[in-house]
Amino acid sequence: MWKPTLEPGRPIYRAITDAIARDVENGRLAAGDRLPPQRDLAKALAINLSSVSKAYRLAFDLGLTNGETGRGTFVRGGDPARIPWPSGENNINIDYASNFPIPLDLRTDVLRLCSDMARYDTGQRLLEYAPSGASADDVEAAVSWLRSLGVTALPENVLITSGAINGVFACLLGLTKAGETVLCEDLTSPGLISAARMLGLRLVGIPMDRQGMRIDHFKRIATETGAHVAVLNPTLHNPTLTVLSARRREELAAFVKSSNMILVEDEVYAPLLEALPTPLAALAPAHVCYVTSFSKVMLPGLRIGYLAAPPVLAERLRNAIRVSTWMPSPMLASLASRWVRDGTAARLIQTRRNAGRERIQAACRILRAHKVIAVEEALHVWLLLPPPWRADEFAAYLKQHGITVMPSQDLATASAASMQAVRLSVGAEPNRARFEQGLSRIDRILHGRE
Ligand SMILES: Cc1ncc(COP(=O)(O)O)c(C=O)c1O
Repeated sequence: MWKPTLEPGRPIYRAITDAIARDVENGRLAAGDRLPPQRDLAKALAINLSSVSKAYRLAFDLGLTNGETGRGTFVRGGDPARIPWPSGENNINIDYASNFPIPLDLRTDVLRLCSDMARYDTGQRLLEYAPSGASADDVEAAVSWLRSLGVTALPENVLITSGAINGVFACLLGLTKAGETVLCEDLTSPGLISAARMLGLRLVGIPMDRQGMRIDHFKRIATETGAHVAVLNPTLHNPTLTVLSARRREELAAFVKSSNMILVEDEVYAPLLEALPTPLAALAPAHVCYVTSFSKVMLPGLRIGYLAAPPVLAERLRNAIRVSTWMPSPMLASLASRWVRDGTAARLIQTRRNAGRERIQAACRILRAHKVIAVEEALHVWLLLPPPWRADEFAAYLKQHGITVMPSQDLATASAASMQAVRLSVGAEPNRARFEQGLSRIDRILHGRE
């Protein structure tokens, strides 16, 4: 049985977690190794079971293990801060793991964009540093785009970012310090999990149901942990697709105002919905940093997003963007502004909605015998696995058949570690026939026919 060497001078649970990290690094523990059952380790070390539980939970939070699932705690292996990313694996034929929008033929739009750019009368400005991070024209376009999403902000509080992840990262960088606890939904995007690990933050997940995050649990855990920042994805949540209900939005807004918390509202998917819910930023503007981007709704390569900050935080977040990228590319920001102003942005979103709908419907039809959660405007479906499948084992099995999916373990904080589901993105496979063939294969595997 693996037995940790405990270094003195720190709490026992911390010493156990550190020993796991050390042994992963020095090779004593390898990916897939099973850690001793908590009870056995507590007995072997003559310590309380609760210390071992705390240590195993922290090891999961730090990305060292795949969590306790009733069958054991397994070493994860690899760099815990690495974003799971399937590209570069040459045996993969069909990719449902990458969270990409559906490929569209946008050659005409992009050609027009480039020629507009070449004719842009202040072209020189686009090639220089933008002293305040963005031009007044781009900020004005951002203000109007945010207004169309229900967020009212003054230009001085609106920042241009290099995509949504850059906006979220700037908030973490500007608002938190290593060692702090940050709250999020108990299933969340791998980008947030990795960013938190790199910044030394402890992510604590809040349980959810079909109406989104449970506000009663949020209040309790915020009070218990003393966290002052939460990063949430309330609309078309990645991966559960929930949309936080209107009542919960009101309740959450009232709580963050009374407890003086800051929410980072990551609304990267919201523009896909025709009927938009009220943003938290509209309900508690002094407590919410609203983040959105064009990656999922228009073009990932545009790499432009917008951040509406509470007035007292705007300067700090502007500095965090300077620290991380200095400024987003002025060329791309100006292209995004043009598309916002001339209506191309709104038109492209409508095109995306229509293209996505067809694929979501196909996925629901092919997988109709299984528990599938789907929303027609979204970029993926969420497939709940029947027992005895474990999501990571299912993903590994599919990989042998040349199919990648995103298992819930890669999207989970500790409290969702026992969830067994996979995210199937509908946009990464360009070929429609292959997209359907892969899903039929998944259907057959779940029926035990392969
Ligand atoms: C919730 C969430 N936020 C942000 C991102 C990244 O967005 P962007 O490409 O604009 O940085 C993703 C992508 O998967 C996401 O799921």
